[in-house]
Amino acid sequence: MPQLSSHLTWKEYTAIGLTATTTLYTLLKLVQTIYDSNNSSSTTTKLTKLPPPEIGVEGLLVQTIYDSNNSSSTTTTKLTKLPPPEIGVEGLVGNTPMILVKSLSEITGNNVYAKLEYMNPGGSSKDRVALAILQEKIQSGELQPHEPKSKIYEGTSGSTGISIATIANSLGIKSEIHLPDDTSPDKLILFNTLGAGLVKVKPASIVDPNQYVNSAKAASVATEGVFADQFENETNWKIHYTTTGPEIYQQLNGQVDFFIAGCGTGGTISGVSKYLKEKIGDSFTSILADPQGSGFYNRVKFGVMYTNEEKEGSRRRHQVDTIIEGIGLNRITKNFSAGEEYIDDSVKVYDEEAIKMAKFLCVQDGLFVGSSSCVNSVALLKLCRDNPQIKGKNFVLAYCDSGSRHLNKFWKEALNVHDDVTVEEILNNK
Ligand SMILES: Cc1ncc(COP(=O)(O)O)c(C=O)c1O
Repeated sequence: MPQLSSHLTWKEYTAIGLTATTTLYTLLKLVQTIYDSNNSSSTTTKLTKLPPPEIGVEGLLVQTIYDSNNSSSTTTTKLTKLPPPEIGVEGLVGNTPMILVKSLSEITGNNVYAKLEYMNPGGSSKDRVALAILQEKIQSGELQPHEPKSKIYEGTSGSTGISIATIANSLGIKSEIHLPDDTSPDKLILFNTLGAGLVKVKPASIVDPNQYVNSAKAASVATEGVFADQFENETNWKIHYTTTGPEIYQQLNGQVDFFIAGCGTGGTISGVSKYLKEKIGDSFTSILADPQGSGFYNRVKFGVMYTNEEKEGSRRRHQVDTIIEGIGLNRITKNFSAGEEYIDDSVKVYDEEAIKMAKFLCVQDGLFVGSSSCVNSVALLKLCRDNPQIKGKNFVLAYCDSGSRHLNKFWKEALNVHDDVTVEEILNNK
């Protein structure tokens, strides 16, 4: 494996021939479960040998596979050792690729890597959580595959529901998803394609019995079904601790300086931050990127869960006042608490900034990503703008889902942004 240095920029890597020592892997597989002849296929996510990050999306477009015996680089298609078939979509969960985002690296003078969680088969990092929870409930006997009455319920802003429905279908389990009725229409259509039960409720505070999490829980109790409970179920952060964190560590040979992620349930940021802090120590910094209307920014900065947008009479939407989906909350969950002590700082990001960033990443890097990935990218720019001494560091940003999930909501706004949008325009002096 080529060694990465934390003190070189991506241009320097290229100059010393990192690409020349990095052979590529296949696009034919959606995830990088690299074939390991000592390791038989399993339905659990498992850490296997991962290739180092690619430079730009083009690194993912060629059908070559990482081959440690072969140190010459090629961008041509080449048949090499391929993994055997997986059994069902669940076999493709985890081991997601990482790429260097060239534009953000150049602008900040750092190596900015995106962990492409949207390459999971259900289209987001939530596949990891869905698979772990489903396996746990099947193993405990609470869920029985192919038993018509055996059903899993979840309250979700979308991604977790899609992951649960996708993987539950493959495992022979029925699912019913409760979600706010202003969820992006693209996600609602996906539920229909999956044939999942769908219950839309008005956006409401967690104290309201009709709030989507409460509604899902009540339905599970009424039907003696199983409630996945992604916010409070600690299987969530643990799967990121045992898979996402180790993958990031391995992909950068342990040279991770910063991790930036938003917080929905808190599973990702808690699990990854705890793992990397334990492995790397205090030289590793974890940053929570928080959308407007969410209370985590104040919680991390000042220990108080509060946001100005929540002031009485000033709020447009009940849950969190933002167009961003999947991140931002105004309550402390068990999954956030589990990793709170490992989160070092927070950056607040406004909708307008994230919307402009969406167009910027698409035009500059060919990266068509969802709203939370854009929030993380804006947080990176703000952090580097406010701390100009941060140079030559390795950043990892969670890119949780793709823009295709957001075409009719977040991306409807982003489409109005002009193609030449600049960093100055994105930050707008905020
Ligand atoms: C698009 C998106 N990004 C980020 C997150 C946040 O992940 P977590 O729940 O692990 O905090 C979610 C959660 O649903 C999401 O849907």
